[in-house]
Amino acid sequence: MTLKAQLEALRDETLANIENVADLKALNQIRVETLGKKGPITEVLRGMKDLSAEERPIVGSFANEIRDLLTEALEGRKEVLETAALNAALDQETIDVTLPGKQMSHGTRHVLSQVMEEIEDIFVGMGYQIVEGYEVESDHYNFERMNLPKDHPARDMQDTFYISDEILIRTHTSPVQARTMEKHDFSKGALRMVSPGKVFRRDTDDATHSHQFHQIEGLVIDKNITMGDLKGTLEVVMKKMFGEDRKIRLRPSYFPFTEPSVEVDVSCFKCGGSGCNVCKQTGWIEILGAGMVHPDVLKMSGIDPNEYSGFAFGLGPDRVAMLRYGVNDIRNFYQNDLRFLNQFKVKE
Ligand code: DAH
Repeated sequence: MTLKAQLEALRDETLANIENVADLKALNQIRVETLGKKGPITEVLRGMKDLSAEERPIVGSFANEIRDLLTEALEGRKEVLETAALNAALDQETIDVTLPGKQMSHGTRHVLSQVMEEIEDIFVGMGYQIVEGYEVESDHYNFERMNLPKDHPARDMQDTFYISDEILIRTHTSPVQARTMEKHDFSKGALRMVSPGKVFRRDTDDATHSHQFHQIEGLVIDKNITMGDLKGTLEVVMKKMFGEDRKIRLRPSYFPFTEPSVEVDVSCFKCGGSGCNVCKQTGWIEILGAGMVHPDVLKMSGIDPNEYSGFAFGLGPDRVAMLRYGVNDIRNFYQNDLRFLNQFKVKE
């Protein structure tokens, strides 16, 4: 076979191989084997020194022509294969945005947090500030400053968890009253505050008692605050909480830190007052304790009772939530059973 025929055969075979090759690695292999230093074309070009002077330019230019042709074919095929590889990768990695997402179950705010925030919002809307107190309190603020000296019999009303003789976990949110009163600058106006938080008592847990529950303390101090202000305020709040048709009534009661003291009932939101299971057939629901701040409590916080007066109240959000949602066991709020909690899912 002549050299030319050999080159032609090589060209045709290589072109066919290039056309058939399916991946880039194999294509590169063909390039190395055909055009590389040890490949047949290089060999032909190297052997040209043995050719005659007439043959040399003819074979030389033919070999160059074939080399260019094959180089071009290799490049062309490479591009085709690269595009195909890219498309295949894109096909595989495509995100189908129409696929339904994974369902994530999300939690919800605790029902007590929901109720407390709702009550806080009502007071904030009336110009009250929210004050956080301390769960670990001193006997001084929890009792003495609330007009409950060490030997006071009313201390028995609040069975206490003591940490030491002087330190306890608070039995009510009332100590926040004293802490706020002593700091308040009355030259800047009245004091209106609510203080929500956890309180603790040495109670045996049952359906209606828990060693941990919540209170929202309220306090207003200014000149000329009267029982009328207390009643009017609580009436507005109860209507917002339980419906516009609600009425309230005050019954005399006793708390050491208020004088006079009252127990406040709201007309039943379920039956409207005619009697049902929620109000135990009485038409009224006992909802909070309140009263006019005792002059001694004012004095102990550095406020002159001849100049200032005020009212206070203590509200139980656990009880509000139980009444509103028909929860008959307070322990449900603290056991974190998701079957219970998920009933109070809100869209947030
Ligand atoms: N501290 C009282 C308690 O835990 C609740 C209370 C009653 C608070 C009357 C008040 C109030 O501020 O005026 O039993």
